[in-house]
Amino acid sequence: MSEINLKGKSFLTLLDFTPEEIAYMLDKAAEFKKMKKEGVSHRIHEGKNVALIFEKTSTRTRCAFEVAAADLGMHPVYLDSKGSQIGKKESICDTAKVLGRMFDGIEYRGFGQKRVEDLAKYSGVPVWNGLTDEFHPTQILATLLTIKEHFGKLKGIKLCFMGDARFNMGVSMMIGCAKMGLEYTAVAPEKYFPPKEIVDKCKEIAKETGAVIKLESDVGKAVEKADVIYTDVWVSMGEKEEVWKERIKDLLPYQVNSYVMEKAGKDAIFLHCLPSFHDLETEIGVDIFNKYGLSAMEVTDDVFQSPASLVFEEAENRMHTIKAVMALTL
Ligand code: CP
Ligand code: NVA
Repeated sequence: MSEINLKGKSFLTLLDFTPEEIAYMLDKAAEFKKMKKEGVSHRIHEGKNVALIFEKTSTRTRCAFEVAAADLGMHPVYLDSKGSQIGKKESICDTAKVLGRMFDGIEYRGFGQKRVEDLAKYSGVPVWNGLTDEFHPTQILATLLTIKEHFGKLKGIKLCFMGDARFNMGVSMMIGCAKMGLEYTAVAPEKYFPPKEIVDKCKEIAKETGAVIKLESDVGKAVEKADVIYTDVWVSMGEKEEVWKERIKDLLPYQVNSYVMEKAGKDAIFLHCLPSFHDLETEIGVDIFNKYGLSAMEVTDDVFQSPASLVFEEAENRMHTIKAVMALTL
Protein backbone atom coordinates (compact mmCIF):
# COMPACT_ATOMS: atom_id res chain seq x y z
CA MET A 1 0.00 0.00 0.00
CA SER A 2 1.34 3.43 -0.89
CA GLU A 3 2.26 5.71 2.00
CA ILE A 4 -0.66 7.86 3.15
CA ASN A 5 0.17 11.56 3.09
CA LEU A 6 -2.41 14.10 4.23
CA LYS A 7 -0.05 17.09 4.50
CA GLY A 8 -1.64 20.31 3.30
CA LYS A 9 -5.09 18.75 3.01
CA SER A 10 -8.17 20.37 4.58
CA PHE A 11 -10.59 18.34 6.70
CA LEU A 12 -14.04 19.56 5.66
CA THR A 13 -16.13 16.38 5.40
CA LEU A 14 -15.33 12.67 5.62
CA LEU A 15 -16.60 12.35 2.04
CA ASP A 16 -13.19 13.73 0.98
CA PHE A 17 -11.26 10.86 2.61
CA THR A 18 -10.77 7.19 1.75
CA PRO A 19 -11.45 4.44 4.30
CA GLU A 20 -7.68 3.88 4.48
CA GLU A 21 -7.07 7.56 5.28
CA ILE A 22 -9.75 7.53 7.97
CA ALA A 23 -8.31 4.35 9.48
CA TYR A 24 -4.88 6.01 9.44
CA MET A 25 -6.24 9.05 11.34
CA LEU A 26 -7.84 6.74 13.91
CA ASP A 27 -4.61 4.78 14.37
CA LYS A 28 -2.67 7.99 14.78
CA ALA A 29 -5.20 9.20 17.37
CA ALA A 30 -4.82 5.95 19.33
CA GLU A 31 -1.03 6.39 19.19
CA PHE A 32 -1.26 9.97 20.51
CA LYS A 33 -3.67 8.84 23.22
CA LYS A 34 -1.18 6.22 24.41
CA MET A 35 1.69 8.71 24.32
CA LYS A 36 -0.30 11.25 26.32
CA LYS A 37 -1.25 8.64 28.96
CA GLU A 38 2.39 7.54 29.22
CA GLY A 39 3.62 11.11 29.47
CA VAL A 40 5.61 10.86 26.22
CA SER A 41 6.10 14.30 24.65
CA HIS A 42 4.86 14.74 21.08
CA ARG A 43 5.54 18.39 20.29
CA ILE A 44 5.98 17.60 16.61
CA HIS A 45 4.66 20.95 15.36
CA GLU A 46 6.66 23.18 17.72
CA GLY A 47 6.45 26.85 16.79
CA LYS A 48 3.37 26.63 14.57
CA ASN A 49 0.25 28.74 15.10
CA VAL A 50 -3.38 27.80 14.54
CA ALA A 51 -6.51 29.97 14.45
CA LEU A 52 -9.72 28.61 15.98
CA ILE A 53 -12.83 30.38 14.69
CA PHE A 54 -16.10 29.76 16.54
CA GLU A 55 -19.22 31.43 15.16
CA LYS A 56 -21.24 29.01 17.31
CA THR A 57 -20.56 28.09 20.94
CA SER A 58 -18.54 25.03 22.01
CA THR A 59 -17.05 23.24 25.01
CA ARG A 60 -15.56 20.00 23.66
CA THR A 61 -14.41 21.09 20.21
CA ARG A 62 -12.76 24.29 21.37
CA CYS A 63 -11.02 22.61 24.31
CA ALA A 64 -9.99 19.65 22.15
CA PHE A 65 -8.36 21.95 19.58
CA GLU A 66 -6.67 24.11 22.23
CA VAL A 67 -5.28 21.22 24.28
CA ALA A 68 -4.27 19.22 21.20
CA ALA A 69 -2.53 22.26 19.71
CA ALA A 70 -0.61 22.85 22.94
CA ASP A 71 0.36 19.17 23.17
CA LEU A 72 1.75 19.36 19.62
CA GLY A 73 3.82 22.42 20.60
CA MET A 74 1.60 24.92 18.78
CA HIS A 75 0.01 28.20 19.79
CA PRO A 76 -3.79 28.37 19.33
CA VAL A 77 -5.61 31.70 18.90
CA TYR A 78 -9.37 31.73 19.60
CA LEU A 79 -11.65 34.02 17.59
CA ASP A 80 -15.40 34.37 17.86
CA SER A 81 -17.83 36.50 15.92
CA LYS A 82 -18.27 39.00 18.77
CA GLY A 83 -14.61 39.65 19.46
CA SER A 84 -13.47 39.78 15.82
CA GLN A 85 -14.54 41.32 12.50
CA ILE A 86 -15.69 37.96 11.05
CA GLY A 87 -19.10 38.09 9.46
CA LYS A 88 -20.20 41.60 10.39
CA LYS A 89 -17.37 43.75 9.09
CA GLU A 90 -15.24 41.36 7.07
CA SER A 91 -16.14 38.61 4.63
CA ILE A 92 -15.00 35.02 5.05
CA CYS A 93 -12.90 35.43 1.89
CA ASP A 94 -10.98 38.46 3.25
CA THR A 95 -10.66 36.84 6.68
CA ALA A 96 -9.24 33.71 5.05
CA LYS A 97 -6.62 35.73 3.15
CA VAL A 98 -5.52 37.50 6.34
CA LEU A 99 -5.41 34.42 8.55
CA GLY A 100 -3.65 32.38 5.87
CA ARG A 101 -0.71 34.81 6.09
CA MET A 102 -0.35 34.40 9.85
CA PHE A 103 -1.42 30.88 10.69
CA ASP A 104 -0.36 27.37 9.69
CA GLY A 105 -3.91 26.01 10.00
CA ILE A 106 -7.44 27.21 10.72
CA GLU A 107 -10.36 25.56 12.52
CA TYR A 108 -13.87 26.82 11.71
CA ARG A 109 -17.19 26.20 13.50
CA GLY A 110 -20.24 27.96 12.18
CA PHE A 111 -23.18 27.86 9.84
CA GLY A 112 -23.18 26.81 6.17
CA GLN A 113 -20.58 24.40 4.81
CA LYS A 114 -19.77 26.95 2.11
CA ARG A 115 -18.10 29.16 4.72
CA VAL A 116 -15.61 26.49 5.74
CA GLU A 117 -15.05 25.62 2.08
CA ASP A 118 -14.34 29.28 1.28
CA LEU A 119 -11.91 29.50 4.17
CA ALA A 120 -10.04 26.53 2.73
CA LYS A 121 -10.18 27.97 -0.78
CA TYR A 122 -8.85 31.44 0.07
CA SER A 123 -6.52 30.89 3.04
CA GLY A 124 -4.04 28.54 1.39
CA VAL A 125 -3.56 26.57 4.63
CA PRO A 126 -5.29 23.42 5.95
CA VAL A 127 -8.76 24.18 7.31
CA TRP A 128 -10.56 21.87 9.76
CA ASN A 129 -14.33 21.73 10.06
CA GLY A 130 -15.26 22.04 13.74
CA LEU A 131 -19.01 21.75 12.88
CA THR A 132 -21.25 23.28 10.27
CA ASP A 133 -25.00 22.84 9.76
CA GLU A 134 -24.23 20.07 7.28
CA PHE A 135 -21.30 18.14 8.80
CA HIS A 136 -19.41 17.45 12.04
CA PRO A 137 -16.52 15.26 10.84
CA THR A 138 -14.15 15.59 13.82
CA GLN A 139 -16.94 14.28 16.06
CA ILE A 140 -17.31 11.20 13.89
CA LEU A 141 -13.62 10.34 14.24
CA ALA A 142 -14.04 10.44 18.05
CA THR A 143 -17.14 8.26 17.83
CA LEU A 144 -15.43 5.74 15.56
CA LEU A 145 -12.39 5.57 17.84
CA THR A 146 -14.67 4.94 20.84
CA ILE A 147 -16.51 2.15 18.99
CA LYS A 148 -13.23 0.59 17.87
CA GLU A 149 -11.78 0.70 21.37
CA HIS A 150 -14.88 -0.94 22.80
CA PHE A 151 -15.67 -3.61 20.21
CA GLY A 152 -12.18 -4.04 18.76
CA LYS A 153 -13.50 -3.43 15.24
CA LEU A 154 -15.67 -1.17 13.10
CA LYS A 155 -16.75 -3.40 10.23
CA GLY A 156 -20.16 -4.95 10.73
CA ILE A 157 -21.01 -2.92 13.85
CA LYS A 158 -24.70 -2.07 13.87
CA LEU A 159 -25.30 1.58 14.75
CA CYS A 160 -28.74 3.16 15.12
CA PHE A 161 -28.91 6.93 14.94
CA MET A 162 -32.15 8.00 16.64
CA GLY A 163 -33.94 11.32 16.32
CA ASP A 164 -32.96 14.22 14.07
CA ALA A 165 -30.96 12.35 11.43
CA ARG A 166 -31.13 15.09 8.80
CA PHE A 167 -28.74 17.55 10.52
CA ASN A 168 -24.92 17.57 10.87
CA MET A 169 -24.58 14.60 13.24
CA GLY A 170 -27.02 12.18 11.62
CA VAL A 171 -25.59 12.88 8.18
CA SER A 172 -21.93 12.74 9.19
CA MET A 173 -22.47 9.54 11.13
CA MET A 174 -24.01 7.96 8.05
CA ILE A 175 -20.96 8.98 6.00
CA GLY A 176 -18.55 7.65 8.65
CA CYS A 177 -20.42 4.34 8.79
CA ALA A 178 -20.53 4.06 4.99
CA LYS A 179 -16.79 4.71 4.72
CA MET A 180 -15.79 2.29 7.47
CA GLY A 181 -18.15 -0.61 6.73
CA LEU A 182 -20.67 -0.29 9.58
CA GLU A 183 -24.41 -0.92 9.41
CA TYR A 184 -26.11 2.46 9.81
CA THR A 185 -29.81 2.92 10.43
CA ALA A 186 -31.41 6.34 10.72
CA VAL A 187 -34.27 5.72 13.14
CA ALA A 188 -36.62 8.67 12.72
CA PRO A 189 -39.85 9.89 11.21
CA GLU A 190 -39.44 10.16 7.44
CA LYS A 191 -39.05 13.93 7.40
CA TYR A 192 -35.99 13.62 9.66
CA PHE A 193 -34.15 11.17 7.40
CA PRO A 194 -30.84 12.43 5.94
CA PRO A 195 -31.05 14.20 2.53
CA LYS A 196 -31.61 11.78 -0.35
CA GLU A 197 -28.55 12.77 -2.37
CA ILE A 198 -26.23 11.97 0.55
CA VAL A 199 -28.07 8.73 1.31
CA ASP A 200 -27.56 7.72 -2.34
CA LYS A 201 -23.89 8.70 -2.17
CA CYS A 202 -23.43 6.64 1.00
CA LYS A 203 -25.16 3.64 -0.55
CA GLU A 204 -22.67 3.85 -3.43
CA ILE A 205 -19.75 4.01 -0.97
CA ALA A 206 -21.29 1.09 0.94
CA LYS A 207 -21.02 -1.13 -2.15
CA GLU A 208 -17.23 -0.81 -1.88
CA THR A 209 -16.87 -1.04 1.89
CA GLY A 210 -19.49 -3.62 2.83
CA ALA A 211 -21.46 -1.04 4.84
CA VAL A 212 -25.25 -1.13 5.05
CA ILE A 213 -27.34 2.07 4.98
CA LYS A 214 -30.93 1.91 6.18
CA LEU A 215 -33.74 4.35 6.98
CA GLU A 216 -36.39 3.13 9.40
CA SER A 217 -39.29 4.69 11.30
CA ASP A 218 -40.24 1.66 13.40
CA VAL A 219 -38.14 1.91 16.59
CA GLY A 220 -38.68 -1.65 17.84
CA LYS A 221 -37.70 -3.15 14.50
CA ALA A 222 -34.70 -0.89 13.98
CA VAL A 223 -32.92 -1.16 17.32
CA GLU A 224 -33.13 -4.92 17.77
CA LYS A 225 -29.61 -6.33 18.28
CA ALA A 226 -27.98 -2.93 17.70
CA ASP A 227 -24.42 -2.57 18.99
CA VAL A 228 -24.50 1.21 19.28
CA ILE A 229 -27.46 3.45 20.03
CA TYR A 230 -26.67 7.05 19.08
CA THR A 231 -28.63 10.25 19.42
CA ASP A 232 -28.19 14.02 19.24
CA VAL A 233 -30.14 17.03 20.48
CA TRP A 234 -33.53 17.58 18.83
CA VAL A 235 -32.86 21.25 18.13
CA SER A 236 -29.42 22.21 16.89
CA MET A 237 -27.43 25.43 17.26
CA GLY A 238 -28.68 28.11 14.90
CA GLU A 239 -32.24 26.74 14.73
CA LYS A 240 -35.17 28.88 15.91
CA GLU A 241 -36.63 28.36 19.37
CA GLU A 242 -40.11 28.01 17.87
CA VAL A 243 -39.22 24.61 16.43
CA TRP A 244 -39.11 22.95 19.88
CA LYS A 245 -42.84 22.26 20.01
CA GLU A 246 -42.95 20.38 16.73
CA ARG A 247 -39.62 18.64 17.39
CA ILE A 248 -40.82 17.28 20.73
CA LYS A 249 -44.04 16.03 19.19
CA ASP A 250 -42.21 14.38 16.28
CA LEU A 251 -39.18 13.00 18.09
CA LEU A 252 -40.40 11.95 21.54
CA PRO A 253 -41.23 8.46 20.17
CA TYR A 254 -37.53 8.30 19.13
CA GLN A 255 -36.14 9.12 22.57
CA VAL A 256 -33.40 6.79 23.79
CA ASN A 257 -34.81 5.18 26.94
CA SER A 258 -34.67 1.86 28.79
CA TYR A 259 -37.06 0.25 26.28
CA VAL A 260 -34.67 1.06 23.43
CA MET A 261 -31.61 -0.19 25.31
CA GLU A 262 -33.37 -3.41 26.35
CA LYS A 263 -34.43 -4.07 22.78
CA ALA A 264 -30.88 -3.47 21.60
CA GLY A 265 -29.57 -6.03 24.08
CA LYS A 266 -27.22 -6.22 27.04
CA ASP A 267 -24.01 -5.63 25.09
CA ALA A 268 -25.20 -2.46 23.35
CA ILE A 269 -23.54 0.85 24.17
CA PHE A 270 -24.97 4.35 24.17
CA LEU A 271 -23.12 7.25 22.55
CA HIS A 272 -23.94 10.96 22.10
CA CYS A 273 -21.84 13.81 20.76
CA LEU A 274 -22.93 15.99 23.74
CA PRO A 275 -24.09 18.39 25.05
CA SER A 276 -27.22 16.46 26.02
CA PHE A 277 -30.58 17.23 27.62
CA HIS A 278 -31.01 14.24 29.94
CA ASP A 279 -32.01 16.00 33.18
CA LEU A 280 -33.06 19.37 34.60
CA GLU A 281 -29.56 20.70 35.25
CA THR A 282 -29.52 23.06 32.25
CA GLU A 283 -31.38 26.31 31.58
CA ILE A 284 -32.95 24.95 28.41
CA GLY A 285 -33.83 21.68 30.16
CA VAL A 286 -35.74 23.58 32.87
CA ASP A 287 -37.41 25.80 30.28
CA ILE A 288 -38.63 22.78 28.30
CA PHE A 289 -39.81 21.12 31.52
CA ASN A 290 -41.84 24.22 32.42
CA LYS A 291 -43.38 24.42 28.96
CA TYR A 292 -43.89 20.75 28.06
CA GLY A 293 -43.41 18.77 31.30
CA LEU A 294 -40.50 16.73 29.90
CA SER A 295 -37.68 15.98 32.35
CA ALA A 296 -35.43 14.54 29.64
CA MET A 297 -35.35 14.93 25.91
CA GLU A 298 -33.34 12.87 23.42
CA VAL A 299 -32.11 10.45 26.12
CA THR A 300 -33.41 9.62 29.58
CA ASP A 301 -31.12 10.13 32.56
CA ASP A 302 -31.07 6.42 33.52
CA VAL A 303 -29.61 5.51 30.11
CA PHE A 304 -27.22 8.48 30.09
CA GLN A 305 -25.86 7.49 33.54
CA SER A 306 -25.82 3.73 32.90
CA PRO A 307 -22.68 1.60 32.45
CA ALA A 308 -23.67 1.24 28.76
CA SER A 309 -23.11 4.95 28.27
CA LEU A 310 -19.61 5.73 26.97
CA VAL A 311 -20.31 9.39 26.28
CA PHE A 312 -17.41 10.73 28.32
CA GLU A 313 -14.92 8.32 26.75
CA GLU A 314 -16.22 9.63 23.42
CA ALA A 315 -15.80 13.23 24.62
CA GLU A 316 -12.18 12.55 25.63
CA ASN A 317 -11.54 11.03 22.23
CA ARG A 318 -12.44 14.35 20.62
CA MET A 319 -9.05 15.61 21.75
CA HIS A 320 -6.99 12.63 20.58
CA THR A 321 -8.67 12.50 17.16
CA ILE A 322 -8.51 16.26 16.57
CA LYS A 323 -4.83 16.08 17.47
CA ALA A 324 -4.36 13.40 14.82
CA VAL A 325 -6.15 15.49 12.20
CA MET A 326 -3.97 18.54 12.90
CA ALA A 327 -0.75 16.53 13.22
CA LEU A 328 -1.29 14.76 9.88
CA THR A 329 -2.50 17.69 7.80
CA LEU A 330 0.10 20.25 8.90
N1 CP B 1 -19.76 17.51 20.54
C1 CP B 1 -19.43 18.81 20.38
O1 CP B 1 -19.11 19.26 19.28
O2 CP B 1 -19.44 19.52 21.53
P1 CP B 1 -19.23 21.08 21.66
O3 CP B 1 -20.42 21.75 21.04
O4 CP B 1 -19.13 21.34 23.14
O5 CP B 1 -17.97 21.47 20.95
N1 NVA C 1 -26.51 18.87 16.09
C1 NVA C 1 -25.85 19.56 17.16
C2 NVA C 1 -24.49 18.98 17.41
C3 NVA C 1 -23.76 19.62 18.55
C4 NVA C 1 -22.39 19.02 18.78
C5 NVA C 1 -25.76 21.03 16.81
O1 NVA C 1 -25.43 21.37 15.66
O2 NVA C 1 -26.05 21.85 17.68
